[in-house]
Amino acid sequence: MNYQESAQWVEDFEGKDVPPTLIKSGQGGWIRFEDGRRAFEAVSGHSCLNLGHAHPELLETAGHALSTLSYCSPEHYSDSSLALAERLSELLGGAYRIKYALSGSSANEIAMTIARRHWEGTGKPAKRIAISLDRSYHGNMGQAQFATGYEAFRVSGYSDHSDYVHVPCARNPASGKLFSTEEIRALLEARIAQIGQDNIACMIVEPINFAGGVIVPPDGYLAIIHELCRRHDITLIVDEVITGFGRSGKWFAFQKEGIRPDIVTMGKGITAGYFPLAAVAVTNSLYMALRESKVPLKKVITMAGHPVGCEVALKNIEITARDGLCKRAEENAGIFCEVLKPLERLRSIKEVRGVGHMWALEFADFDQQKAPEIAKMVAARCEDENCIVAASAGIIRINPPLNSSIAEISFACSTLVNAVEYVDDCC
Ligand SMILES: Cc1ncc(COP(=O)(O)O)c(C=O)c1O
Repeated sequence: MNYQESAQWVEDFEGKDVPPTLIKSGQGGWIRFEDGRRAFEAVSGHSCLNLGHAHPELLETAGHALSTLSYCSPEHYSDSSLALAERLSELLGGAYRIKYALSGSSANEIAMTIARRHWEGTGKPAKRIAISLDRSYHGNMGQAQFATGYEAFRVSGYSDHSDYVHVPCARNPASGKLFSTEEIRALLEARIAQIGQDNIACMIVEPINFAGGVIVPPDGYLAIIHELCRRHDITLIVDEVITGFGRSGKWFAFQKEGIRPDIVTMGKGITAGYFPLAAVAVTNSLYMALRESKVPLKKVITMAGHPVGCEVALKNIEITARDGLCKRAEENAGIFCEVLKPLERLRSIKEVRGVGHMWALEFADFDQQKAPEIAKMVAARCEDENCIVAASAGIIRINPPLNSSIAEISFACSTLVNAVEYVDDCC
């Protein structure tokens, strides 16, 4: 089939045509292409396939849920949506209210709207600005596209919106090194003073900028942001769309810092990729303040909180807990580190970094080759060897399903190592 002429419009993140590949089926962490070749999804589909394909318990749950209640409108409760809300609140430490959404973008859209409505409702309508990080990705719909700070994933052609201000993440853009926590505090404090806290509604942060190159901040980073937000009356939104549900080694990556965000957004791995579902968790106190101010939210999404998605999410959480997958992700970090870190000796590698099941190789320009080209060559070589990794802006990301076997993780890592060594040799 000539894919370029098919009726389906498919784009990759950089606006170029995707390679003409058709996936016929999937089993565990592996997919099968139309030519019969199998490949390991070392990027968990699109960072969502936490339990691999065709997990028998998820399939049975989805089938049962469909035949019990095939749909429930967002104006009503279902047993499934109530049970999932309780479970999510419990995982977050309790006393959160859950509003359902459909995608990471829509969850972040709702979260920023909640923050603005809250300040409107408390008589501070000038507090409108959303602060986000320069290496962030929050989605490419609605407000999420303006909050996205990482140039490689910005929607080009739109001018910047004055209600969205990007500040440096934990990494110094000039040196490429991490800022110290004291530098971060001083930098953010200065930016808040410059913008004026009376103009700022919220700060939205990923605990680890994943699409932005797996930037793992120093310990204490989120605690500083949390404290600054408290002190300056800024609603803190933590975007756990990628990091949530075990990928960082915790249920939610912010939990490492012992903080309690005002709002947490989640998507992707919530249903292990089996059903479109996202959620916005809001502290009870923020929820009550919104109710009292009577400023309507008006964010109704027909398919949000679908009972099938909620049941699948509950089962996914049950399996993740039962099989100890958060702990496993934390322990597996040792394997990624041991196999990938030695690549830093090569000319083409700038840095290897990561936590849990989320790792990145950052490439360096050398000789005539630019880092983005080298990363793409390495990714293509991996794919030839039946291992799918993600390359963008000179960085390769690898984040396999949480229930991958040690053999599968070793396969993904050694394929990547071989590909880097091969390309490094050729350059
Ligand atoms: C941290 C983060 N937030 C939000 C999104 C957007 O999610 P979606 O593609 O479901 O809209 C993504 C997608 O990769 C993400 O990585």
